[in-house]
Amino acid sequence: MIAAVGMELTDATLAASVEASLALVEDGLRAAAHAQHDVLHDASLHLIDAGGKRFRPMLLLLAAQFGDASDERLVPAAIAVELTHQATLYHDDVMDEADTRRGGQSANSRWDNAIAILTGDFLFARASLILADLGPAAIKIQAETFARLVTGQIAETVGPRPGTDPVDHYLFVVTEKSASLIATAGQFGAMFSGAPADVVARITAACSALGVAFQLSDDILDVTSESAQSGKTPGTDLREGVRTLPMLHALRIAGPADARLMELLGMNELADPALHAEALALLRQHPALELARADTRQWAEAARTEILGLPAGPARAAFEALCEYVVERTG
Ligand code: IPE
Ligand code: IPE
Ligand code: MG
Ligand code: MG
Repeated sequence: MIAAVGMELTDATLAASVEASLALVEDGLRAAAHAQHDVLHDASLHLIDAGGKRFRPMLLLLAAQFGDASDERLVPAAIAVELTHQATLYHDDVMDEADTRRGGQSANSRWDNAIAILTGDFLFARASLILADLGPAAIKIQAETFARLVTGQIAETVGPRPGTDPVDHYLFVVTEKSASLIATAGQFGAMFSGAPADVVARITAACSALGVAFQLSDDILDVTSESAQSGKTPGTDLREGVRTLPMLHALRIAGPADARLMELLGMNELADPALHAEALALLRQHPALELARADTRQWAEAARTEILGLPAGPARAAFEALCEYVVERTG
């Protein structure tokens, strides 16, 4: 069992290796968050201490099982990827006006937007510093990933251009803002373990598809889950006017019975708590959710197809389990 993610791994040796490295990642995250300024220090440690699944470090360390999992570059790479992820969470909560993260207050809520933005910037800088020791190839991949992530976030903010299919736009957003870093986690793990180039390429492709499925699950959970499970406020996407896959399917298949939901979705933002609650309740019982779940399963299957081209063994079995996890996860 990988405790933080809550995922069962059947191979005990592999699970122990990943757990041991994850413990080092925790130490490294805390060391990287150390800042001279007391507010920056506290704000940087805020989300690290709040928890989180550490999905990307785990993925990186699982990918490393296809090579030499004891390579000393792997733990720093995993720390850098998680720092990058956490930096995006600080910024994302400002953009989404989210007041809850990882079961506690978001940094923008606990302090303010300026501190949340600067703390995100600081963590990006810390990630770059760590990657600089791993060489120019790592820095280049990180820079390209970051550019893609920002591209995804801005595409989501701006919305689809006239004439663009909304689902195509949504999938572009998800691939850039979330799957990019998840693919990089897999790529770093395979690359720094010295796995052969074809394995690195296959893991990167598999993790990209897994990353899309992971974000699709997140968007479904934003509708269906309660804060106790997700650690976030349900219906944030709905409130902010971010049209995720469940909403896009609902708009696409709407019938006469959906008039009220269509009216509510037609509003730009659902800031009014009563209207927001009404829309969330209607969406929770809508067949669009099942369609979004079917799409999530398809992306997980695409990942599995890639994974089945990898050498058989405990590492591949763990990746197959990940395909189940991204679909089934509840938090
Ligand atoms: C949240 O990521 C942002 C997404 C890309 C969906 P996680 O679900 O991995 O968040 P933590 O790290 O566990 O808090
Ligand atoms: C943002 O997506 C993903 C990032 C790149 C940070 P969401 O806005 O859905 O993430 P959550 O739900 O706030 O974690
Ligand atoms: Mg958000
Ligand atoms: Mg979300």
